[in-house]
Amino acid sequence: MTERAVSDTANQQDTLHIEFEPVGRRGRCPRGMTLLQCAQQLGVSLSAVCNGNGTCGRCRVVLSSGTLSPATSSEHLQLTDKQLTDGIRLACQAIPETDCIIHIPPESLTTIQRTQVEGLQAIQRDDPPVVTHKVPVIAPSLSDVEGDVDRVTRTLAKLHGVACETADLEVIRATPSMLRENDWTVSASTRGKELIAVGPWPSNTLGLAVDLGTTKIAAYLLDMATGETLGMLGAMNPQIRFGEDVVTRMAHALTSPSGAEDLSSAAIGALNDMVTQLTQESGTDPARIVEAVVVGNTAMHHLLAGLPVAQLSRAPYVPAFRESMDIKARELGLHIAPGAYAHLLPNIAGFVGGDHVAMLLATQVANATAPVLAIDIGTNTEVCLAAHGHLTSASCASGPAFEGGHIRDGMRAAPGAIEHIDIEDGKVLLQVIDDAEPVGLCGSGILDGLATLLRHGIVDRMGRFNKNAPGVQIIDGKPEFVLVPSEQRNGKPALGLTQQDVRQLQLAKAAIETGIQALLAHASLAQDELSSVIVAGAFGTYIDLTSAIAIGMVPSLPLERFSQVGNAAGTGAKMALSSISMRNEARSIARATGYVELATSPDFMKRFVESTYLEPFPQNGG
Ligand code: FES
Repeated sequence: MTERAVSDTANQQDTLHIEFEPVGRRGRCPRGMTLLQCAQQLGVSLSAVCNGNGTCGRCRVVLSSGTLSPATSSEHLQLTDKQLTDGIRLACQAIPETDCIIHIPPESLTTIQRTQVEGLQAIQRDDPPVVTHKVPVIAPSLSDVEGDVDRVTRTLAKLHGVACETADLEVIRATPSMLRENDWTVSASTRGKELIAVGPWPSNTLGLAVDLGTTKIAAYLLDMATGETLGMLGAMNPQIRFGEDVVTRMAHALTSPSGAEDLSSAAIGALNDMVTQLTQESGTDPARIVEAVVVGNTAMHHLLAGLPVAQLSRAPYVPAFRESMDIKARELGLHIAPGAYAHLLPNIAGFVGGDHVAMLLATQVANATAPVLAIDIGTNTEVCLAAHGHLTSASCASGPAFEGGHIRDGMRAAPGAIEHIDIEDGKVLLQVIDDAEPVGLCGSGILDGLATLLRHGIVDRMGRFNKNAPGVQIIDGKPEFVLVPSEQRNGKPALGLTQQDVRQLQLAKAAIETGIQALLAHASLAQDELSSVIVAGAFGTYIDLTSAIAIGMVPSLPLERFSQVGNAAGTGAKMALSSISMRNEARSIARATGYVELATSPDFMKRFVESTYLEPFPQNGG
């Protein structure tokens, strides 16, 4: 019996399943190991400055589910009672007593996860939603007793032609001292007819654009006057500890009394942390941020805005509200200028949200003169076909396999993740992020691995392993392809792709192919008629398109017709932040985009089953 087979047999009694988020690394670890030892066994880079002595406090983690051993005396010294009650523990002290999901905060990781924040160049327009002017007012006197805020709005009208009809309550409260402390000259920011901020003059006003993804968050700090991007930041969405996909998170929101609050405060907490970091790096102050735009899928949007999600989670999956929303940022708990608004882009349908609208805005597919397909690959993949003057979108439940989820050795893109795989002259060639020791496979590596196994006849088009192919081992009667043997991992179990992994990938790629095929059929279009294919999103940025074409995840077209555009949703959010006309365009896109519900299509199951074959799109695809 092989080493892994021995380990698998003993697993059920002697080991526990431990999952570390947000890195997405999971596996079975012997009972009695500390969480730090489990992390080390699974290749998770957890800080351990005192080498596990319980004295540095750097290995803090948060218990998301499961049971850990009682807190040790070291933990009582390093952590407050409140922290312990909140589930914060020292990984070097806590021993799992059941299967556990453990959240690692960014400060406890020694390496940074790769998050995609860069994207297309944003289109600039000179029509910002918030305008800031210098306002020198005449100090009041016994013969001029006009109110302080009225004095500001009167001067705004007189000097700049800006007609203000109302002022934010917090701005009214702050204005008297602001005028007196700044010698009666301030900057006044207006949004439409509302005075939303006053500040010292001179100072620039800033905007915040956010792509609130299910897995990752991208945030951008912009100068509102010039539209220039001053800083950008990527972070993992801490909501992951409540579930990897939106369906699980909505279930948490609906079944736990504090579920919706847990999710919204996790997202808002992350946004506030990002605001702090972005403004510190730019040497400025969150109070200078006078406008925010947030894009996200419909579930993220609803949870952030505190909208009900019960109707989103069951057929026919309708949003509470489709149109764009303007909410005072303080009502969301966002710590920027007290009078600032957060603008949420409109949704298209229950599973196609403002992030998709932002992607369409950034890529300008609505203005394409020839058929264009735009794909944003993620845990949920959105596809849009622009053809014959119409935009039609579909949502594909591709699941987390291409994010490393449900794959035995899968993980997210972080140091140690295998990101590209090839076989040359019988030798397995691996490209690992940061050239670190391999600890797992991220999405692009998983895709490459599957395409490579297919190309070398190690799996067939049905996804079945050739058990006699070199590199294939039979373990407990099931084949797997070994990428890094146990001997090269200091005795840890080998890394590889299993038959079960291949099945998961077939389902994920079939979901995407089915969506694309359905849209092509809906428009009576063959794949060859597509003038271009836009691949957006973090995963889409790093994938080898040749591999994606080979397994039939994307249409079988010449590579020059593809463009990988990075975080286009983030670019769309930036465009909407700095331009009223771009917001109007986003509204028009959302209203004009048709939605195809794949599951109700009569030949959905037939198309889905055919799409599980690992082969390029059929030549007449569509
Ligand atoms: Fe130092 Fe845990 S490693 S307290």
